[in-house]
Order: sequence, then structure tokens, then C-alpha cells
Amino acid sequence: MNETPKKVKTSLEYLRKLFIMPDSPDKFIEFGHDLLEMIHDFFQEKGGIHSSITLPELSRIFDQAAVPDRPVLIKDVLSEIKNKVIGHSVKVGNPYYIGHMTSAIPYFMILLEMIIAALNQNQVKIETAKASSFVERELVAWLHRLVFNRTNKFYEKNIQNPRIALGNVTADGTLANMTALLVAREKAFPPDGKFPGSRMMGMDRALRHYGYDRGVIIVSERGHYSIRKAASLLGIGEHNVLNISVDDNNRIDIKKLRRKINSLQRGKVGNRTKIIAIMGIAGTTETGSVDNLQKIGEIAREVGTHFHVDACWGGSALLVDEYRSLFRGIQEADSVTIDAHKLLYCPMTMGVVLFRSERDLQFIRHSTHYAIRRNSVDTGRFTVEGSRPFACLKPWASLKIIGSEGYGLLFRHANKTTHNLKELLDTCNNFETLSVSELFILTYRFIPGKVRKKLLALRDVEASSRDKAGAKETRQKIKKINHFINALNIKLHKALRRDDTTFVSRTTLESTRYRPQNIVVLRAVLINPLTDKRILKEIVDTHNRIGLQIWEEFESAYRKIVI
Ligand SMILES: Cc1ncc(COP(=O)(O)O)c(C=O)c1O
Repeated sequence: MNETPKKVKTSLEYLRKLFIMPDSPDKFIEFGHDLLEMIHDFFQEKGGIHSSITLPELSRIFDQAAVPDRPVLIKDVLSEIKNKVIGHSVKVGNPYYIGHMTSAIPYFMILLEMIIAALNQNQVKIETAKASSFVERELVAWLHRLVFNRTNKFYEKNIQNPRIALGNVTADGTLANMTALLVAREKAFPPDGKFPGSRMMGMDRALRHYGYDRGVIIVSERGHYSIRKAASLLGIGEHNVLNISVDDNNRIDIKKLRRKINSLQRGKVGNRTKIIAIMGIAGTTETGSVDNLQKIGEIAREVGTHFHVDACWGGSALLVDEYRSLFRGIQEADSVTIDAHKLLYCPMTMGVVLFRSERDLQFIRHSTHYAIRRNSVDTGRFTVEGSRPFACLKPWASLKIIGSEGYGLLFRHANKTTHNLKELLDTCNNFETLSVSELFILTYRFIPGKVRKKLLALRDVEASSRDKAGAKETRQKIKKINHFINALNIKLHKALRRDDTTFVSRTTLESTRYRPQNIVVLRAVLINPLTDKRILKEIVDTHNRIGLQIWEEFESAYRKIVI
């Protein structure tokens, strides 16, 4: 490690060499080689998932409060990156890391990122993105067809038709959802006579023009927080995202959805509500559940509103025939969002928003004089973002390299892994699984066998209780025990982070068998193809061992509760 990087005398000559080619092409290849070795070492390195460095220690490493002045050599900066950054990065590709949607990527993605950086195309306009604009349109058409399956003629006509856009490639799922809801807002308050539409006049005037007091977006309580962000950015307001409760399977409760809509439509005089969009989720963030899209679609049609499906997590499973029935009804959506950096195994980041109608993106079309001119073929006419990278190369290439058959194998493995974990948790006496989805997310908690038994017995007592007071007392007891087990699981999760040989995430759900109580759960996302049953067994054994150690501290307090 070079502790004192050599300062380089700044000269334009030196800087030019950085731009044209480092010193000579050999140097470029030499650095490239060193860099690939460095990355390879990172993957081979054993040890903790998060590195043992503490956050205060990290803040001391990165405490230089001023921009560096004199340049230093590339090799010295690479060495600094190796020691300070790579060494302390999270090994999200480690097969013992099963806690988040961010996971392992195929190695060819790293090479594709190099091409993206080397070409430095800007997708906003054809003058900075030639072939890459066509690649993007082709990818968008592939995904559009997967979701909406419109006719051959439709795709032949529109795949490279510059007058329309079937969707946008976005930075991420958040922006994809926001784009969908922006279009929904424009469709809800379109130009009307002399009124030029909400995009020109803002929400306030649009509501007044159409005689409404507010506009709302309806989604289940499992809706991703990006919906609230979009509502605030679009001037709709976070309070106007109406969350409908879910059923025991974490799917939107259709009856409650209907009830909510009826009550909005009955609205008191002077309190009229415009439903801007009704949303379905195809793969909820916390539990991987898929809403009943068919029913939601029917309701949205009856109401005459935009039907958006957030399939950021699960949408890629449409590639595989056996998963398609999960998404029944998605083809009736007005818009659908999918993230490539989730189940397409692309590195951070790329989202896509797709519109069933090729006309919908006209609602947000822009033009200006220096680029994206009205009659140009520039992709940027239809996007919320301005400059955008050639990120679509990653899914475009991986859909060829892996193919839908390959993705099928990856998803089948993910499904098997999810069920293996469930089986291992169920056979160990000290866990309770609380949700398992078809889309590779499982939630569970640590609960010593005898406590679980006690809870089951109390639930039986509650169910057979004849008098209200007795049932209430039993319910209180169940609540107390769950509260206690919540604290145990928070402590366990923190201990697992310290142990750092395995990783699962943690969340809090109300939709478990103990509702209406909130239950702290551990959340596993099982998409790494390198995670297998042996590794899962080690993970469960570790959680059990550490869980039992913590339980020793909790046990005497528990005895006091159950007396
Ligand atoms: C269902 C769902 N929608 C939207 C998003 C937002 O995606 P991104 O993090 O790419 O902005 C996520 C992220 O986890 C998600 O799970």
C-alpha cells in the first residue's frame, strides 16, 4: 500500500494523456488488468460480509474537508480505492447474504459497465446516442410485449417508431413509478377547452377547473415508499396516497378497496375526490406478494381511472411461463414498472416504465431548441430525466446471454432455495415462518419452542373463550408475549449484524397471524444462485445459536410475563 501518494506536476500535456489514452494503450490495458484483478480479489476474499470497521472509524478515513488540489497518479488512487473503499464494501454477492433485493451479479455485467462508460452515450438525444437509442427502443419493446402482449402488427409498427414511446428506461424503480403517476395525473386533469391541463397550471388550478377538492392514489399498505415520494413531487401530497389494508397473504383486501372507493364516490358535498390512479403491486417489497391484478384492473375500469402496476420486484418473472399466471390481469394495466437491478440480475441501477397505450407518453412530451426538438427522434422528448446513461445495454445483453430459459433456471433455483429455508426453519423448533411468497421472499422470527407452544395454546384458549372478558385477557397476554418476542428479534438482528457471517434484513408487519399487532420479522430474499441448502443450514444454525444465547438473558423476564 502506498501511504503517501506521489503528487503529479499538473500540466495540460499530462491531462491530455488521461483523456486520449493513458500514456500508451499498453498502460490502459495494464490498469484495466490490475483493476480486474482487484475486483476478482474482492470476490475471493473471505471474512465478514460488512467488514469489521466501525462507522465512526470510516468517518475518520473520509474526513478531508477540501477538494484535492494537486493530482496524484491513477495507480495510487486505485490503491486508495482498494484499501479504503473496496475493503470496506458490503459483499452483497456473498451467498450467506440473503437479506435484500441487492444481490450477486453475473461477471459479464462488470464488462458491460465498462462498455457503457467507454462509449459514454447520453440517451437523451440521437446526437449523443446513435445505435444505443435503437437498443433502448428494442429492449422496451421486448418488455412491453412480455407484459401487454399486443399484436405483431403493433410491435412492427412501433418498435422503432420515433413518433411515440412505449415506455421509458429510468434511473430506478422510484423514477419509473413517478413517471407512471405523472402520466396518470395528466390523464386525470387533461387539457379541456381553454384549460391547458394540470401540467401547465398545477394541481390547484386543475382541481378547481374540474371541481374536485383533492386527487388521490390508491395502493395497499404494502406500497413502496416511492409512491409517497412521487405523490409529494407531483403536488398530489403524501396524505393523498390512500393505503388499503392487506389480507393475511399481504395482498390488497379487495373488499376494503371497493368500500374505500364507494365512500370516496359518495363524498360529502364540497368534498369531491378524483381518483388519479389505483395501483396493484406485483411483488411487494417486504413479502414478495402479488395483488389480485385482475380484480384491481376491473375496479379501475369501472371507476375510469389509471391502473398502474408496480412490478419493480416481480415483473421480470413474466419471462418464465410457469410464473405468468401469478400476474394474471397485468396486461390490462395502463402502466407497469420493472427494475432490471432486481430479478434481471443487473448491477445498480435501471428501471423501466411501460405504457399499454403508445399514446400515453404524449401527455408528458417536452421539446426545446438545442435538443429534443419537436420533430426530432430524440428519446428525451418523453422522459422525466434529462441526461441518461446507456444502462439498457445490461438487460439487453443479459436477456441474450442468459435468455428466458436461463432466467427460468435462476428463478426455479430461487424458489427451491426459498422452500429449503422454510423447511429448515420449520424443522428447527425455534422459528416461526410468517410469510412465504412465490417471488423468493420469506419472513420469519426467532421464537423458542416453548414460547411458541404457549402462544398456540393461548390462541386456542382465546378462540374457545365464551366470555368477552376472558378472551380479552388472553388477547392481552398474547400481545405481551409478542411484544417481548419483538424485542428479542430486534436484539437478535443486531447480534447477527455484529457476528457478520450471515445477513438477513428486518422489518415489522401487521399482516401476520397475530394481527392487529405489529410483529418484528426477519426477512430473507433468496435470489443468489450460489446460495444452497448447505449454506442455508449454516445460516439457520447460526441464527438459532445466537438466538438461544440472547434468550438466556430474556428467559427470566418471560417467566414473569406468563405467570
Ligand atoms: C415494489 C417496489 N417498487 C419500487 C421500488 C423502488 O425501486 P428503486 O429502489 O429502484 O427506486 C422497490 C424497491 O425495492 C420495490 O420493491
